[in-house]
Amino acid sequence: MRVLVSGGAGYIGSHTVVQLVAAGHEVVVVDDFGNAKPAVMGRLDALTGTHIPVQAFDLTDKDKTERLFATTQIDAVIHFAGLKAVGESVQIPLDYYENNLESTFSLLRAMRRHGCRTLVFSSSATVYGDRAPVPCREDYEPLNASSPYGRTKVIIEQVLRDVAHTDPSLRIAILRYFNPVGAHVSGTIGEDPQGVPNNLMPFIAQVAVGRRASLQVFGDDYPTADGTCERDYIHVEDLAAGHVAALAKMATSDATVSTWNLGTGTGTSVLQVISAFEQAAGRPIPYQVVARRAGDLPAFWADPTRAHEELGWRATRTIEEMCADTWRWQSANPHGYEDLPDRDDAG
Ligand code: NAD
Ligand code: WQD
Repeated sequence: MRVLVSGGAGYIGSHTVVQLVAAGHEVVVVDDFGNAKPAVMGRLDALTGTHIPVQAFDLTDKDKTERLFATTQIDAVIHFAGLKAVGESVQIPLDYYENNLESTFSLLRAMRRHGCRTLVFSSSATVYGDRAPVPCREDYEPLNASSPYGRTKVIIEQVLRDVAHTDPSLRIAILRYFNPVGAHVSGTIGEDPQGVPNNLMPFIAQVAVGRRASLQVFGDDYPTADGTCERDYIHVEDLAAGHVAALAKMATSDATVSTWNLGTGTGTSVLQVISAFEQAAGRPIPYQVVARRAGDLPAFWADPTRAHEELGWRATRTIEEMCADTWRWQSANPHGYEDLPDRDDAG
């Protein structure tokens, strides 16, 4: 199948591209490189042994999106493209609503005009909000995200259900990711945040490689075993495999919309992540405990039973592998993709 991967130059998209090609799919990437480096495309070519075509444009541009579908037969879309920083979304909510919603509308319209009926959408555990049970199942309601970013995901999920209602031939997968971390085992692609990392794992990795002096641990007085927050960290390679499994399932499924949690089903504390990373990198991670970060839940993880039963998918990689693979990527590429030459047609 020919799969359009929106945001395919980004962190999760790039890892998924590699697994799609390995599963026998043909891939076309669209990315505006707002949060990705063109150099990733050369790495993808090397990993896949094929040339991955990329179109560099903003998917909120409906004409360009339409032109792509008019000139290329697309059998399925995996829609990763979006802005994703929770804190930033509070500062510039309109940018978040505009980018995340408009890019989705653009794709949905082009898909309808050109008879493309299969869509996988990147949603997030953040849609569940702060009153959800732990572990959390897909049928929990009401979805009560507490940031503009999270609300873009809740709204898009609802749009997808409404659109699916009008066309029973559609096959839409909503994948709710928990905390994606890790990197491809080769160490040649990985997470490359611009500026100060918002998330724990890339921050630790930058401390380990010497780009930052120390980590701040946001609170150690939570009602958890060691007092620090617990999260469901999932290896990006397991996550990528979940997308390939969802595509395969939709080819034979009668359901128009399916929602699957992609998580491991276990919680790991901040201190446990630090300790696992120290083991992987063979060096200490200096840290100080500081005040709690506003909005953080003490503990949150998935109930991934539905994905296991319906997709035959399960996350298999341990926190030790997540740290080892992150470290392989970060130590081989201390400044991410910055030092690499761009491929001619990207960016
Ligand atoms: P990322 O920023 O690395 O990748 C997103 C890519 O989309 C980037 O390469 C960016 O340049 C591109 N993009 C953004 N807006 C675009 C537009 N309008 N047109 C074309 N390209 C555009 O992020 P990621 O971590 O790979 O996340 C992928 C998806 O998964 C996002 O939708 C995100 O909200 C969701 N998600 C991420 C996490 C996480 O912690 N990383 C967790 C849950 C859900
Ligand atoms: C993990 C833990 C922090 C940084 C976010 C989004 C969520 C989803 C995944 C997109 C928490 C602690 C962190 C640091 C720390 N993304 N921490 N020092 O907040 O669970 O989820 O990413 O959909 O929507 O909210 O992940 O990595 O930011 O934090 O102590 O410098 O690490 O307090 O307990 P989070 P995170």
